[in-house]
Amino acid sequence: MKEFLIKSVKYSYTLILRPVFFLFDSETIHTTLVNFGTQIGKITPLHFLIKKLIRIEDVSLEQNIAGIKFDNPIGLAAGFDYEAKLPNVLPMIGFGFGTVGTITNKPYEGNPPPMLGRLIKSKSLLVNKGFKNSGIAKIVNQHKNSKFPIPIGISIGKSNCREQMTQQEAVNDVVESFKEIEKNNLPFKYYELNISCPNLYGNIEFYSSQKLRELLAAITTLRLSRPLFIKMPIDKRNTEVNEMLNVIISFPVQDVIFGNLWKDKNPKSLDQEDDKKYKKRFYSGKPTEERSNELIGLVYKKYCDRLTIIGCGGVFSPEDAYKKIRLGASLVELITGLIYQGPQLPAEINFGLLRLLKKDGFKNISEVIGTDAIG
Ligand SMILES: Cc1cc2nc3c(=O)[nH]c(=O)nc-3n(C[C@H](O)[C@H](O)[C@H](O)COP(=O)(O)O)c2cc1C
Repeated sequence: MKEFLIKSVKYSYTLILRPVFFLFDSETIHTTLVNFGTQIGKITPLHFLIKKLIRIEDVSLEQNIAGIKFDNPIGLAAGFDYEAKLPNVLPMIGFGFGTVGTITNKPYEGNPPPMLGRLIKSKSLLVNKGFKNSGIAKIVNQHKNSKFPIPIGISIGKSNCREQMTQQEAVNDVVESFKEIEKNNLPFKYYELNISCPNLYGNIEFYSSQKLRELLAAITTLRLSRPLFIKMPIDKRNTEVNEMLNVIISFPVQDVIFGNLWKDKNPKSLDQEDDKKYKKRFYSGKPTEERSNELIGLVYKKYCDRLTIIGCGGVFSPEDAYKKIRLGASLVELITGLIYQGPQLPAEINFGLLRLLKKDGFKNISEVIGTDAIG
């Protein structure tokens, strides 16, 4: 019954809804869908009904990671729900967790257009929002008394602004956001520190060892009450990533996410015509998949005793998610797949994971992690 419903939603979405949505500007559709989701999230009886009909629940998908219980390994990546409007809707469509944000200390109206664009042949999106968000104070006010039904984390980044900041001011700015959450007892279960957004103003970066160390040292002084995960770049060389990880493991960081958007250089899976469509070249979806997978495998091999990994980039199917887990990811996040494949995707992936576990003779998803790690 669930399989039938999941397939029905998938075909209705890809054959009817998606072609209609894709007639409109991506930013407008995104805002409309988030508003629609917000309304659905307010109708409590619908939570139970849709959840019952679509969500896959099975003990073999459950894991405990960084002290948090995850009912399944599929989460919404940062960048879809900038204001924590959807935590009630995510479990209905099958997500096991989700990340809100990225949120910054100061609000930001978004980069000059285009902020979003579709690269349909490449199954990708151009992403140039530059942390469009209403600032940490608004999130704090809105969510002081909220309760979330699944683990929801908050992604925090440096405020984006045209005025120049010094490196020290940037560190202070990030720390301010952490302080706000810590002192207000919000329902977030983990932090995702976003150091890898490619489309911000100024020349602040946290990629070099010293700058990353300064940032993590400042955050560590806060003695965070929740686990800290770091959203990593995928467009750095292996040696640079290794240097960053050597810094990261000397701080109380539990998890690294591989990774963020693909910047500039042509990945093989990007259609050449698509690549000429926009001047800005920050891509999500399939163009990120290959490098994300490569890094998951390499990092698992070297750091699996110390760090858990969340795989993110180009997940459109159960097989895509399973591959990331086999390479070393404990959890998987996605956005672009949801937009191309439909809202049933998290449930569809979990359903498919159960099939793949059974086929390969595993009892729990945790047994699969790293079985294909490369080195
Ligand atoms: C519309 C959009 C907005 C995004 N905004 C953010 C963001 O604010 N913070 C962040 O860490 N990643 C952001 N990302 C990157 C995603 O979280 C993810 O790392 C990337 O898109 C690869 O995953 P995907 O192929 O499943 O989309 C954004 C991606 C998209 C598509």
